[in-house]
Amino acid sequence: MTAGLFLTLEGIDGAGKSSHLDALEALFRAQGREVTRTREPGGTPLAETLRGLILEQPMDALTESLLVFAARRDHIVQVIEPALARGDVVLCDRFTDATFAYQGGGRGFDADVLSTLERWVQGGRPADPDALLQPDITIWFDLAPEIAAERLAGARVPDKFESQPVEFFRNVAAGYAARAADAPRFVRIDASQARDQVWHQIEAALRQRGAVTQ
Ligand code: TYD
Repeated sequence: MTAGLFLTLEGIDGAGKSSHLDALEALFRAQGREVTRTREPGGTPLAETLRGLILEQPMDALTESLLVFAARRDHIVQVIEPALARGDVVLCDRFTDATFAYQGGGRGFDADVLSTLERWVQGGRPADPDALLQPDITIWFDLAPEIAAERLAGARVPDKFESQPVEFFRNVAAGYAARAADAPRFVRIDASQARDQVWHQIEAALRQRGAVTQ
């Protein structure tokens, strides 16, 4: 049976990651793969309810982190683990790297607490109790916060995070860079390029890593 592939997309708001989801899904389907497309916070009825609270309600950074990880736990148990066990490609718009970037970098929350929550939520699996569930590949859309802010301006009504000042996104971007420095699963994409060039970078990286073969 084909092994599941867990692929996540990350980047600051306005980096353009969501605009490549359709093409990514089509690319994997053309390889004969089943694709489970999902997002965080969200992906289950409970996690989508929590998403509404996280994106709209003011709250302290610990509360926000706990809700994000509670949503993630439900998402992993209900959707991600079963899909990977079936051999699907799980295409997930954001995952835990976003928590280290937004709550850790952006809001300045304690990374040790986030690491503890990460171990609780992504560890302790019967098949491999010592290993954490992590993406196989993380496509990181890296873009200067000033350019992202220009792209977002006027695009839609901003949510709680999108309405933050550019300084917040500088810290989020630094959070992503710190996570990427530690993890070879990260593929850095220069998201300042035109959309089709960004797509070429993504496709080339997936071929280079053997995730796409045909
Ligand atoms: P996003 O993925 O950009 O969705 P949309 O394109 O519909 O706006 O929005 C999710 C927001 O949630 C984004 O601003 C980042 C934030 N977020 C966190 O703060 N922590 C997390 O752990 C995750 C997954 C997202």
